[in-house]
Amino acid sequence: MTTHPSDDGAVLCGSAALRRSWHAVARSVEVSPGPRRVRLLGEDLVLYRTEGIVVAAADVCPHRQAPLSAGRMSDGCLVCPYHGWQFAGGGQCVRVPSAAEHVPPPPRAHLHALPCVERYGLVWVALDQPDDAVPVIPEDDDPAFRRINTPVDIWKVSATRMTDNFLDVTHFPFVHTGTFGRAQDTVAPKVELSELDHGWFGYAYPVTARNSDLGTMVSGQADELVERQMSSGFSLPFAVRSTIDYHTGLRHVLLLLSTPVDGVTSLFTFVVWRNDDFSASAEEIIRFDLAIGAEDKVMLEKIPGVLPLDQTSLVSVQADKCSVEWRRRFAALLTA
Ligand code: FES
Ligand SMILES: [Fe+2]
Repeated sequence: MTTHPSDDGAVLCGSAALRRSWHAVARSVEVSPGPRRVRLLGEDLVLYRTEGIVVAAADVCPHRQAPLSAGRMSDGCLVCPYHGWQFAGGGQCVRVPSAAEHVPPPPRAHLHALPCVERYGLVWVALDQPDDAVPVIPEDDDPAFRRINTPVDIWKVSATRMTDNFLDVTHFPFVHTGTFGRAQDTVAPKVELSELDHGWFGYAYPVTARNSDLGTMVSGQADELVERQMSSGFSLPFAVRSTIDYHTGLRHVLLLLSTPVDGVTSLFTFVVWRNDDFSASAEEIIRFDLAIGAEDKVMLEKIPGVLPLDQTSLVSVQADKCSVEWRRRFAALLTA
């Protein structure tokens, strides 16, 4: 059966498996201390930081359902904007201003704190107890590498289409003409899928890239064309890692994260790790990747709906092998 592209994405928001998955919802610096409202899988959440630890909970006050994200922080507590109830670490309600001092808050006044961790400069949330850990980027623990975070952007695109795109190299010569794509080099190398390191699954391949303007900064080389050894891999549900190795020993790692706000809208952020000499500013380094991401966004926002997840609605070729395998595993995850 053909899945019509206008499908509204209920298949994502209703998924128990996606509720049990980690999703990057904000940069850590955006929750310092908050409160901050985010939307994940169709649910509004509030994030706030107290005693250094981020709390994530439904953005609904247990008293009269006011959005807690419209409140403020005071003395390390989140204060509801409506009647001033106060919530501390772990979501615990510690003060009800209308009650006498010695009367404790009702037991059901506490917020249900959701699974929440900070990693790679990002706040990760799961709506239910997650099955797996946050994807592993070993360079994050290596002092030879610096980490660069980028803003969290909103794309009017299903996270399914974004993940499919980030595993795809054959759009490079057509979509990335303003950055590194080369129109004359369209034939993709044969894709052999394999387990990569640290739980990533995907493929490795050589790429000849155009190396002009911003590209010379990122590659650290001045040649017009530059050879890159790349790998692209995924970690379910929506994390994609690209590694780029230059013969100079420079390694550039990209973590591309798509987070379903709902079925057809997503947060996008990426994180870069590089073992360069730190001479270029972080802004200069990410300007190139931001330009590449902007090219993907323009293309993908033209395609409505969720990526069809059955094996027959789309026509694929050998070069699509990795995204087809991601789609197969992702569909299995949803039905597991
Ligand atoms: S609705 Fe939050 S304190 Fe009343
Ligand atoms: Fe792209």
